[in-house]
Amino acid sequence: MSIFVILGLLLCIEAPGSSAVTPVFVKKGDDLLLNVTEEDDPQRFIIVVWKFRGNTLATFSPNGKTTVFGAYTGRVETSVKTFSVKLNNLQEADSGVYTAQVLGRKEQTLIEYDVTVQAPVSPVGLTVDSVSSSSDSCNLTVTCSTQDSHISSTLTCDTQTCSQEGGERSEVTTSGASLRVYLETDSIICNHSNQVSWTKNMTNIQDVCPQHAGSECVSAGISVCLVKTVVFSVGLVVMVSAVITVHIMEKLKKKKL
Ligand SMILES: *[C@@H]1O[C@H](CO)[C@@H](O)[C@H](O)[C@H]1NC(C)=O
Ligand SMILES: *[C@@H]1O[C@H](CO)[C@@H](O)[C@H](O)[C@H]1NC(C)=O
Ligand SMILES: *[C@@H]1O[C@H](CO)[C@@H](O)[C@H](O)[C@H]1NC(C)=O
Ligand SMILES: *[C@@H]1O[C@H](CO)[C@@H](O)[C@H](O)[C@H]1NC(C)=O
Repeated sequence: MSIFVILGLLLCIEAPGSSAVTPVFVKKGDDLLLNVTEEDDPQRFIIVVWKFRGNTLATFSPNGKTTVFGAYTGRVETSVKTFSVKLNNLQEADSGVYTAQVLGRKEQTLIEYDVTVQAPVSPVGLTVDSVSSSSDSCNLTVTCSTQDSHISSTLTCDTQTCSQEGGERSEVTTSGASLRVYLETDSIICNHSNQVSWTKNMTNIQDVCPQHAGSECVSAGISVCLVKTVVFSVGLVVMVSAVITVHIMEKLKKKKL
């Protein structure tokens, strides 16, 4: 046990100044600004280099000259003052680690970004596969489906509450997105999401199971049902009082006559 701790410490000591790689997620087609943080800002340097997979994207010289290389010309904008590069119209193939290095008296890595470019997720379909209902309960099976994946779930409802067998269900699709099916208030929700986008599809349980009145009457706090009951009661009291008052007034009038 302690051997591993010592090994871990040694590994940490062995790599001084190596900052952690910063993960960045970008939606396909978007631009990305890669920065050098202020504290990393090189003061005395010969050249600052941005690299991707061993290739040089761009360089900054102390005299304010910037150069963009090869396939990146036209796709990369540079900012001399901040040593930052802006990559335009990112595609999946642009995913990977981008490194800013300063070459001075010695080579030093300023910052590293692990960039993941993702396309927005596709819409998600929600189908009710089966419904079996009696006067006081209703069981249904639903399926959430995307192009490359699907997930099913069974729900059991009585007149007021529903429960999802096994709780919320989720899975990771082959394209690395996440597909989840869960119950929220009186709806079943399918949520298809990745780091840059999400889509949902939902259905109201009452539309499928009419005997399920909903959790309106049992929801936490001051329930809608209680408010309705109070308003109705007050209304009734006011009306009855009005009738009685009119009655008494008329009797009094008759007595006077
Ligand atoms: C670079 O800086 C800009 C402005 O502060 C910020 O919006 C952007 O997210 C930063 N880029 C990264 C990769 O952190
Ligand atoms: C929800 O799923 C149904 C059934 O697959 C589909 O017809 C409908 O277009 C979907 N709605 C949304 C908003 O994606
Ligand atoms: C729904 O499922 C529950 C538990 O499995 C069962 O007790 C009930 O009879 C079912 N109701 C209907 C209408 O199938
Ligand atoms: C769907 O999931 C994503 C990622 O977890 C989340 O940000 C989003 O709020 C969810 N949408 C709904 C309607 O719950």
